[in-house]
Amino acid sequence: MDNPSGRSQLCPSLLSANFARLESDVKAVELGGAGAIHLDVMDGHFVPNLTIGPAIVKAVDRITSLPLDVHLMIEQPDRFLQSFRDAGADWISVHWETVPHLHRTVTRIRELGASPGVVLNPATPLSFLRDILEYVDFVLLMSVNPGFGGQAFIPAILSKVGELKDILSKRGLKTRIEVDGGVDLENAADLVRAGADVLVAGNAIFGKGDPAENARDILRRMREVER
Ligand code: DX5
Ligand code: ZN
Repeated sequence: MDNPSGRSQLCPSLLSANFARLESDVKAVELGGAGAIHLDVMDGHFVPNLTIGPAIVKAVDRITSLPLDVHLMIEQPDRFLQSFRDAGADWISVHWETVPHLHRTVTRIRELGASPGVVLNPATPLSFLRDILEYVDFVLLMSVNPGFGGQAFIPAILSKVGELKDILSKRGLKTRIEVDGGVDLENAADLVRAGADVLVAGNAIFGKGDPAENARDILRRMREVER
């Protein structure tokens, strides 16, 4: 999970993009300063929605050199790690709630050559991360209940980000914190101030207007608090 700039990153979620013109939407957010492209994989079991599989990940990989951040909201994700890696996934995250042998799963992701991350639903406590933190490159904190784009940010996640940041600094870990769900112009600065390194935004970027400009505006807010 290289990040030479050391600054926080914005990852547009394609869930709210126009799938009939994915290429121009991806190019737009590249121009807008995106640090990676976030792809939401849903199976209709773990979450009540169905989205994309490896074929779309592969198609996106062909049109961008940005890292692909693949967020697996699926049961038994181990079955698909190889396929998503082959399709071009650079960061692969699995939900804590879906995996019985988390250490094995994240080790496998690393063996495949991708950066492993673990995701927590809004109601899953940080304490469950204790024994896995040193094995993952990032923790993704959900700030909505996963399944759909365009939902409202759950404000309690702001303090969860701060708490995780404290835990990581106390343990001297460089694990990055990603936040996903309801991120917009209003909360982006607060999230970075609280300790978030990567912000995912779907609706706020692709919902209306120009995705490049929307991404630039959110990034500007993120940069303001970094100075
Ligand atoms: C939700 C997905 C998110 C979603 C974010 O289940 O994991 O990545 O696309 O979209 P917004 O920013 O619209 O909440
Ligand atoms: Zn996501």
